[in-house]
Amino acid sequence: MTDTRDRITIRRPDDWHVHLRDGAMLAAVAPFTAGQFSRAIIMPNLSPPVTSAAGAAAYRDRIMAALPAGCDFTPLMTCYLTDDADADDLASGHAAGIFTAAKLYPAHATTNSAHGVTDVAHIMPVLERMQVIGMPLLVHGEVTDGDIDIFDREAVFIERILAKLIRDLPGLKVVFEHITTEQAVQFVDGAGPNIAATITPHHLHINRNAMFAGGIRPHAYCLPVAKRERHRLALRRAATSGSAKFFLGTDSAPHEIHAKESACGCAGIFNAPYALESYAAVFDEEAALDRLEGFASVHGPNFYGLPLNDAMVTLHRAENPVPDDIEAAGSRLVPFHAGSGLAWKILPS
Ligand code: NCD
Ligand code: ZN
Repeated sequence: MTDTRDRITIRRPDDWHVHLRDGAMLAAVAPFTAGQFSRAIIMPNLSPPVTSAAGAAAYRDRIMAALPAGCDFTPLMTCYLTDDADADDLASGHAAGIFTAAKLYPAHATTNSAHGVTDVAHIMPVLERMQVIGMPLLVHGEVTDGDIDIFDREAVFIERILAKLIRDLPGLKVVFEHITTEQAVQFVDGAGPNIAATITPHHLHINRNAMFAGGIRPHAYCLPVAKRERHRLALRRAATSGSAKFFLGTDSAPHEIHAKESACGCAGIFNAPYALESYAAVFDEEAALDRLEGFASVHGPNFYGLPLNDAMVTLHRAENPVPDDIEAAGSRLVPFHAGSGLAWKILPS
C-alpha cells in the first residue's frame, strides 16, 4: 500500500454485504459493484428469497450473465434462513462452494424478510451444523417487537438474542451486519475473534438527522435506521481503528425512485456507484487513510478464510460530482451523496 496525502493505492476491495436484486434491476446495478469490488457477499432477500443451493447457483449464473464478458468479479452466495431451513442442503451447498454463508433475517425486520426466522430456537440444529463446518452466519441484528423503539432495535437484539446465541454456539463464526450503534461496536470488540461486523458508508456519513433535514428525506432511510451522532462517531472509530473485526459491507440496497419517494417508502440506500470513494472520504477525514486497505481489502477475506486480492486500485483526491439520479430498469435510482459530491476519485486502471 502507498499513501500520500492526495493519492492512495490499496489492494482491490471486496463488498461483504450487497443487494444486487434480480432481472432488469440486477442488470442495472451489478456493474457498479463489479466495477469497484472483486468479490461481494450477495444478499438472498429476493422475492421469493434464495433458500436452496440450487436457487443460489441459478442466481449466481444470472449475476454473471448481467455483467460484461470477462468481468473479474466473483459473487459469493448466501442462503436465506427460514424456520424450516434444511441443514443438509445448506451443508452440501457450502461444501460444493455454492453457499459462502447463511443469512439470518428476523421475520419482518426489513425488505423481503416476511419469510425470516420467527425464533432462533427453530434453527438451532442448522446453526449447530454451521458451527461444525465453519460456515459464517450473517445476522441482521434487530428485534422486531412492536413495543421496542425503532432506534433501540439493534441494542435490544444484542441483549435478547445475540449474546445468548454466541454463548450457546461459542465456535460459530458470526458477522453482525451493518452495525449502527456504539453498543454493537462494544459487543463485537469484546467478543472472540469469530465475531466480526460490517459497516456501511452511509452509517459513517449520516446520523438520524439526515432523515429529517428540512423535511422528510426518504433517500436517507435504510434499515437498520441511522442513529444519533454519538453512534456514528463510534462507528467511525471502529472502522478506522485497524481492528480486524470490522470490515467493509456497503449494504447498497437500490429501490426505484417512486418506491422511495412514497407515502410508505422502502428502506435502502443505493451507494454502489461511489462506495469506495465514500469510504475513502471518511478515512481521510479521520486521518486514517493508512487503515483503509485493512478495512476494505484485508479484514474481510481473512475473516472468511479467503485469499487477498492481487489486483490494486488507486484513489486520488479530485472533485467527483455525484449525479441527482441514475437511469435503471426503466426508472431511476438516487445514489448516496446525490447532488453533492465526493473529494476522492478512482483512477481508471
Ligand atoms: C435492504 C433491502 O432493501 O433489501 N434495505 C436496507 O435498508 N438495508 C434490506 C436490509 O439489508 O435490511
Ligand atoms: Zn442489507
